[in-house]
Amino acid sequence: LVLVVDFGAQYAQLIARRVREAKVYSEIVPHTMPVEEMLARNPQAIVLSGGPSSVYEPGAPALDPALVDGSVPVFGICYGFMAMAQALGGTVAHTGQREYGRTTVEVLEPGTILAALPDQLRSWMSHGDEVTAAPDGFTVNARSPRATVAAFENVERRLAGVQWHPEVMHSDHGQEILEHFLHEVAGCRPTWTMVNIVEEQVERIQQQIGPEGRAICGLSGGVDSAVAAALVQRAIGDRLTCVYVDHGLMRHGETEQIERDFVAATGADLVVVDAEKQFLEALAGVSEPEAKRKIIGREFIRVFEGAEADIVEREPGKVGFLVQGTLYPDVVESGGGAGASNIKSHHNVGGLPEDLQFELVEPLRTLFKDEVRLVGEQLGLPPEIVWRHPFPGPGLGIRIIGEVTRERLDILRAADAIARAELTAAGLDRDIWQFPVVLLADVRSVGVQGDGRTYGHPVVLRPVTSEDAMTADWARLPYDVLERISTRITNEVPEVNRVAVDITSKPPGTIEWE
Ligand code: XMP
Repeated sequence: LVLVVDFGAQYAQLIARRVREAKVYSEIVPHTMPVEEMLARNPQAIVLSGGPSSVYEPGAPALDPALVDGSVPVFGICYGFMAMAQALGGTVAHTGQREYGRTTVEVLEPGTILAALPDQLRSWMSHGDEVTAAPDGFTVNARSPRATVAAFENVERRLAGVQWHPEVMHSDHGQEILEHFLHEVAGCRPTWTMVNIVEEQVERIQQQIGPEGRAICGLSGGVDSAVAAALVQRAIGDRLTCVYVDHGLMRHGETEQIERDFVAATGADLVVVDAEKQFLEALAGVSEPEAKRKIIGREFIRVFEGAEADIVEREPGKVGFLVQGTLYPDVVESGGGAGASNIKSHHNVGGLPEDLQFELVEPLRTLFKDEVRLVGEQLGLPPEIVWRHPFPGPGLGIRIIGEVTRERLDILRAADAIARAELTAAGLDRDIWQFPVVLLADVRSVGVQGDGRTYGHPVVLRPVTSEDAMTADWARLPYDVLERISTRITNEVPEVNRVAVDITSKPPGTIEWE
């Protein structure tokens, strides 16, 4: 276990993933966690993340010197590097000069962390202060135009750090630098592999559910619940019953895909519940996004309780466990990880009702999305499921801005099916992370079609690229693809007379509109 100490949420997740790419399991902890508590978890190494730009900033998080006393290997990145330098008696000068963006780092002494790398490294920088003197006994490995000391190490004490961000793609050889630290300096063995993840999770699931327990799993149609279900299926076989709630908020053709592809791949026992009427009644008159999410989450669990009763009646034996495809970023974003703020209540984490009568089984709770896909491949799920774009639990309910009605859902479904079909036809599915289509149901605008005036609704295309949904950029779809989507939607969906493209990154926008 490697602990990534979070001094600023966005960096920590990326670092944790890179550590895992080095085949070493990692988890994120908040910088406010007392050092004794961190050490009690017996980490093989600790990585300090980036954070505020200056250790002199008012309220800048402090680093407890006990963390760097040599009892555990520590690697500092950016802010973590400066905090480490300060705690170890080096000099951090408050220069007020920022070095930001792509910078050339000059390797002075490769040592262990920069071993066998070029003399010059293009590196992503973002700092205000400057380490001007390394702590006693440390080798200065590199410098940059605005960082006299841009990297240092003391291999005997197993402490090292870099001023730049090796975890971002714009930094050359970043992964190698992290691996040099983890494998060579800290002595971590690269054993975190997909085979091990599957074996470990299967064992954990078996322990949690026991030899007699029965579980049900809600399939949402997405990769997360499919992989969670396939894992549990592998662990307990036909003591798992999968339930697919057709809440009426799914996209065109999705129900069939689950009934056909998922069942074919896993042989799972699947019950399909048609609950459209119940969901739409509960959502009637509701426009406020958080209210919609809570209602959908609540109804979802209610339907499960009904499904459970039916399943128990069918085959006696208590179903005590509910499988959910909650991912690590959901946990972190809901405040369960790094003290990050609660941005939206994800319905599979925050919106659970208090009278929940199941014990949760969440085999993906520690995994990032890309890891979940690899686990899915390992489990033999078909590529159409493993590589599916993420789709939110509340479905199209949060892609209709305004009240959710059957008629509006049909309009959005028709537009969405066109957008997805054209994306697939252009061969772009894997180039983008997600492609929500949003119906602005309360907005109308004037248009003209044939000889007639129209007064229809706009839809917004929201194609994004992302690595983890924590940050995202708007996807630069080719104009001809956008043109085909626009022409087809306005021709084939009579209620829609305008197609817009959302060109907001995240932050400041979120991927979904609600
Ligand atoms: P945002 O809109 O917060 O979305 O940028 C980040 C990612 O999460 C998905 N999403 C959800 N997934 N239940 C889910 O299972 C939810 O309530 C939910 N809300 C958003 C969203 O599609 C994107 O991939």
